[in-house]
Amino acid sequence: MSLRTIILYGHPTLRQRAAEVTEFGEGLRTLVEDLFETMGTERGIGLAAPQINVAERVIVVDPTPVTEEESRPLALINPEIADYEGQSTLEEGCLSIPGVYAEVQRPARIRVRYRDVDGGAQEETFADLMARVILHETDHLDGKLFVDHLSAMRRSLLTRKLRAIDADRRRQAMRL
Ligand code: NI
Repeated sequence: MSLRTIILYGHPTLRQRAAEVTEFGEGLRTLVEDLFETMGTERGIGLAAPQINVAERVIVVDPTPVTEEESRPLALINPEIADYEGQSTLEEGCLSIPGVYAEVQRPARIRVRYRDVDGGAQEETFADLMARVILHETDHLDGKLFVDHLSAMRRSLLTRKLRAIDADRRRQAMRL
């Protein structure tokens, strides 16, 4: 297992559509372990492979540390939202957009089809925080970020912070 670096807002990988996973082998298992380790170390409750600069459709979620709702650590490969209902609004952040938080409206319950790490087909219903985290992370696989869900006006209030994150990211990349 190894700790990976989380890429930040402005990095082009965060805007790509990630590729379907077709091989369920040792490489995938290592990727999932690294995602769990990185998520835990960074105190996140969800992490998508593109956030460690791997453009593949793999996410891990574990809201257990922050909720009393039913939740568990879970890796979802090639997740698809098959159905959704209801709506809820909650403040979100993102490990790739440090220091930025905003209320996002999302469905309250979802039906998800995914593969487990062994390639087994799964279909499951999730509610509340599990649903929200899976939706946030699945968005990452399509190059979408939580700030994209905000109205133009609310997003414009964050423009300066977002630009600062991007500028820091570029500076850090220039360390020689
Ligand atoms: Ni995120």
